[in-house]
Amino acid sequence: MLGNFEYHNPTKLYFGKDSLDYLDEELKNYGKTVQLIYGGGSIKKNGIYDKVVKILKQNGKTIVEDGGVMPNPTVEKLYDGIRIARENKVDFLLAVGGGSCCDYAKAVSVSVNCKEDPWEKYYIRFEEPTCDIIPVGCVLTMAGTGSEMNGGSVITNHSQKLKIGHVFGDEVMPKFSILNPEFTFSLPQKQTVAGIYDIFNHICEQYFSGTDDNVSDYLAEGLMKSVVASSYKVIKNPTDYEARSNIMWAATWALNTLIAKGKSTDWMVHMLGQAVGAYTDATHGLTLAAVSLPYYRYIMPYGLKKFARFATEIWKVDPTDKTDEQTAAEGLSAMEKWMKDIGLTLKISELGATGDMIDGITAATLILDGGYKVLTKDEVKEILKESL
Ligand code: NZQ
Ligand code: ZN
Repeated sequence: MLGNFEYHNPTKLYFGKDSLDYLDEELKNYGKTVQLIYGGGSIKKNGIYDKVVKILKQNGKTIVEDGGVMPNPTVEKLYDGIRIARENKVDFLLAVGGGSCCDYAKAVSVSVNCKEDPWEKYYIRFEEPTCDIIPVGCVLTMAGTGSEMNGGSVITNHSQKLKIGHVFGDEVMPKFSILNPEFTFSLPQKQTVAGIYDIFNHICEQYFSGTDDNVSDYLAEGLMKSVVASSYKVIKNPTDYEARSNIMWAATWALNTLIAKGKSTDWMVHMLGQAVGAYTDATHGLTLAAVSLPYYRYIMPYGLKKFARFATEIWKVDPTDKTDEQTAAEGLSAMEKWMKDIGLTLKISELGATGDMIDGITAATLILDGGYKVLTKDEVKEILKESL
């Protein structure tokens, strides 16, 4: 049964080949000085930077450059972004990139006018913003995180060995996001599959909970099927527009809160993956892939019916003459095959994790209680060892 909930998503989306045209219109709603946030240079190589700068200039905007946002943005980079915004009195933050740029822009937006240390305030004490927030817009170049239509902002603190996400409210979410699937054509294969698994796992995190009949689970199944089907197409042909567009749209719906409505949610794969990320700085989606199978195989008995449903609905496992255990286990094996087919890494050791890090990664793993089994720290450790 659906519980009580509120649903509102304030982010306006422009989707499709011509979606960047709408940047022109949107920019008229914001002030003159724009902090242009981007990553390590991919947008300069694929021409997106030039297109965006042209539109900013047409609108008479003063552009304040803020490039070099790294994958898994760090707290040091956040301090740098806050300094840039303060020194230039920026009116608007335009993130052009993947989840890292978009997450970073949100973190800057809530920190520029805030006297307190943002790491302590938002990522350790999980407080809400109490100062004026600078509006954020996003031109997305990588499909995966859903950051384009949610309030999530993940920051990594290497000195504290912590990678933590804060989910901010409506007022911090991008005012608009521009989603042109063609902008993802230039993604390296590794990033494409990392994004695909990130999407798939966002759906799993919201699917593997509860025993009720819930519309959110049917929506989740539809999204999962689409992601799996498109993943094979895009691996074969990275410029398959149909597949890229389906992946991009599925990513947004996988994590814009819709499919979590009326449900509790798990998020333990993300907690494990983020802790691995804090130690290795590995690509987000790959950390999730590498811990997923040991985790799901471990919790499967606690949510057996749902795992059997996952097997028959997503992986077309025939349940005839099989126990739920057998059906569910076959489903996870089919998922494993798919993960291998698209070239995902299934071991955290391949991402830089070593045996001597296990205790630290265990300590850095936050334990949540929305899934089928509340893990103990010993169980977390066993799952991590199994993932090595
Ligand atoms: O930095 P550049 O040169 O732009 O290269 C990037 C980066 O190296 C490259 N890239 C992006 N678009 C490209 C491209 N290369 C060629 N062509 C393009 N069109 O891809 C690399 C990865 O980019 P990044 O933005 O880091 O990837 P992603 O979108 O996966 O974002 C990862 C961050 O988002 C957080 C993760 O933890 C991680 O810090 N997450 C945010 C969430 C949220 N806001 O709700 C939820 C997620 O679970 C996740 O935790
Ligand atoms: Zn994720």
